[in-house]
Amino acid sequence: MGIERVIDTTPHEEDSEEQIIEQSLRPTNFSEYIGQERLKKNLKLAIDAVKKRNDGTTLDHVLLYGPPGLGKTTMANVIAHELGANIKVTTGPAIERAGDLASILTNLQEGDVLFIDEIHRLRRAVEEILYSAMEDYKLDIVVGKGPAANSIRLDLPRFTVIGATTRTGSLAAPLRDRFGISHRLEYYNESEIKKIIERTAGLLNTPIKDDAAEMLATRSRLTPRIANRITKRVRDYADVNGDGIIDTKIASEALSLMEIDSLGLDPADRNMLRLMLDNYADRPVGLATIAALTGDEVSTIEDYYEPYLIQLGFIEKTPRGRKVTPKAIEHLKKNN
Ligand SMILES: Nc1ncnc2c1ncn2[C@@H]1O[C@H](COP(=O)(O)OP(=O)(O)OP(=O)(O)O)[C@@H](O)[C@H]1O
Ligand SMILES: [Mg+2]
Repeated sequence: MGIERVIDTTPHEEDSEEQIIEQSLRPTNFSEYIGQERLKKNLKLAIDAVKKRNDGTTLDHVLLYGPPGLGKTTMANVIAHELGANIKVTTGPAIERAGDLASILTNLQEGDVLFIDEIHRLRRAVEEILYSAMEDYKLDIVVGKGPAANSIRLDLPRFTVIGATTRTGSLAAPLRDRFGISHRLEYYNESEIKKIIERTAGLLNTPIKDDAAEMLATRSRLTPRIANRITKRVRDYADVNGDGIIDTKIASEALSLMEIDSLGLDPADRNMLRLMLDNYADRPVGLATIAALTGDEVSTIEDYYEPYLIQLGFIEKTPRGRKVTPKAIEHLKKNN
């Protein structure tokens, strides 16, 4: 993406100030983790059962999926914390060869959590090794080459894989089937987002008025990452242009400076919708065409722009492409 977007759901570069703050705001246990009540209830039960049995069995493998910024990585860490387990973190694309996975697996301790982010991007050969590791805690490796090659089977400690993905559709069925617990994270409601904003403001030592927290909550696309990002930007604004307190005056000035409208859309969203309308009116447009119009990658449109616009009922998915809805047209008329 060319311009940096406040409502951008992508986590920014590692070790940036942004990342460090994101880390420090991250809830570490179930009681700090706001919302996703159904998921928490199911996980608590499963974790309590493991602890109660105390017979060396581990938590079932957990798959967390859903749009970016809703708390998948956070939840993986919370699960490990609640289990009292160590967490090893990796990502699908980082595991390049079967050997890389073998070395990760053989270094695990009994009861460890292995978090694999972007699990839909695992390579085929790597994925196949993971199957038997997840199912039987066995690692099949081939030693030697040609006719002398020999396959050996190593025992692995019992461990729990937590996989995260923004796309379950791209996950091979055999892999999906190996997760005993599979859960979609949903968009939060405004009162949950408001609580997250208040918690974040508290951690940043910034007083925030109730109606201001409410205002920010309506602009945060029902997404914690965006709620935090907006809260930080508004806090900066309050420090520079006010007395450090976030009230509705400061909040609305800061939001209009960021060009975030009443529904949390920013110029990039509105631009995309307009380009679709100008070129295709209410006819369906293919993803690749939308990407060409905005100059973004197809995956950016699919993962970052579209989910919230669909949730709002602004874009409709049809078999022949995406359509801008009358509801979106109404909104655009009011927000130039
Ligand atoms: N339930 C929650 N309560 C409070 N804060 C949350 C919650 N969920 C997420 N956050 C905050 O939002 C930020 C983003 O969450 P997280 O990184 O877990 O999202 P994600 O689903 O892993 O996103 P991605 O798909 O981009 O990896 C976290 O740093 C955390 O501070
Ligand atoms: Mg994540």
